[in-house]
Amino acid sequence: MEAYFVDWLNLLGRWLHFITGIAWIGSSFYFVWLDNHLQSPVDSSDVQKGVGGELWSVHGGGFYHAQKYSVSPAELPETLHWFKWEAYTTWMSGMFLLALVYWYGAEIYLVDSSVANLSSGIAVAIGSAFLVGGWLIYDLLCRSPLARNEKVLGGILFLLLTLAAWTLCQLFSGRGAYIHFGAMIGTIMVANVFFVIIPGQRRMVAATAAGNTPIPADGINGKQRSVHNTFFTLPVLFVMISNHYAMTYGHPFNWIILIAICVAGALIRVYFVARHKGRQSIWPIVGALVILASVAAIIVPRPAGSTFANSDHSGAGGTIVDSATQPQSFADVVVIIKERCVNCHASQPSFAGFPAAPGGVMFDTPEQIVKESSRIHQQVVVTKIMPIGNLTKMTDAERLIVDLWYRDGANIDWVGEH
Ligand code: HEC
Repeated sequence: MEAYFVDWLNLLGRWLHFITGIAWIGSSFYFVWLDNHLQSPVDSSDVQKGVGGELWSVHGGGFYHAQKYSVSPAELPETLHWFKWEAYTTWMSGMFLLALVYWYGAEIYLVDSSVANLSSGIAVAIGSAFLVGGWLIYDLLCRSPLARNEKVLGGILFLLLTLAAWTLCQLFSGRGAYIHFGAMIGTIMVANVFFVIIPGQRRMVAATAAGNTPIPADGINGKQRSVHNTFFTLPVLFVMISNHYAMTYGHPFNWIILIAICVAGALIRVYFVARHKGRQSIWPIVGALVILASVAAIIVPRPAGSTFANSDHSGAGGTIVDSATQPQSFADVVVIIKERCVNCHASQPSFAGFPAAPGGVMFDTPEQIVKESSRIHQQVVVTKIMPIGNLTKMTDAERLIVDLWYRDGANIDWVGEH
């Protein structure tokens, strides 16, 4: 019952996170687009009022005329709309989900004893430290003299983020590491809104209301942080969908793949931002595509099952099938799957915390095992992310048998020799 209830919390939290995320990133994309499409005002009286740029658009059956003031209008309007709750609710729902899936379920999703033997409590403490520490270090950097040079700042941020990706991947399961990396950047983005952009805007509004000119630093700092947020967006969105792609987070070099795809994402954003401004250099997008194609080519699953020769993913439990002395058959594969997988992947899972077969994947019958052979091979041999967190202690010898069976055609009447 508890697991079923948790599943509902998960569903509602994810739904909310998705909706608020669309609202946030949608409005953020819109304002970046708007900013980059402004034209000089046509009417000279607008220029006198301090309008620096304007834009006409048509949407949903109506015409819109947006004007941007170079600094601020002489008088504030009665109603002024702020955009902040989109960001805050995205963060809150995201933290809720992170805590529910990866912290409450740390044993399953966050800790992987073949990566690092952490207790759930320590793992959660490390995860939260990354979220808080990431923001503190980033914020310090942006306030330091180093931040005056955007290129230097960008280089340092890149190195620090690479270090963070590497460290997380040495501590957590692949997907746990990825999600904490994404949550760390997401936290930086929302903290930028909460601690820098919105307070700066408040001061600007207060100064305008008092008839003073707002101090330029508030505008400049706010702009710097919102530029960073723009380039963080695509990397964070990749991380949020990455848990569907074990080929990325399940790879031995998962941290390099993470950084490479994030760089590609940032480059794609660079291209679109430049495109809005009318500059049409295609190099950022070419660079992004080259990176993505290279990653795809480099991590392509190798057909030969040599993955075990220098593997350090040895399970702690005893081998249930003696691969050295006996010839194998499909019956052995069935025993292995029954022992290591079926407690979760069954029509009625016995493993605590799983009210239904995860991913809808079930191995109740030999026929189902055969039908799912290529997915089993992918998860158990290629990426080794199943059994999740190696909770059922699958051994390398067992993975080898699954590998041999699969490479011999994954038949129900398989008899193997090696
Ligand atoms: C402790 C529970 C548990 C055990 C044991 C387990 N799995 Fe899974 N499995 C999961 C969860 C959770 C997911 C869903 C992951 C996600 O959310 O994407 C999953 C997903 C899968 C998928 C679907 C992946 C996809 O996205 O296509 C396959 C295939 C799979 N497991 C195979 C196996 C095999 C084979 C074994 C045994 C060697 C195994 N699992 C053991 C929990 C488990």
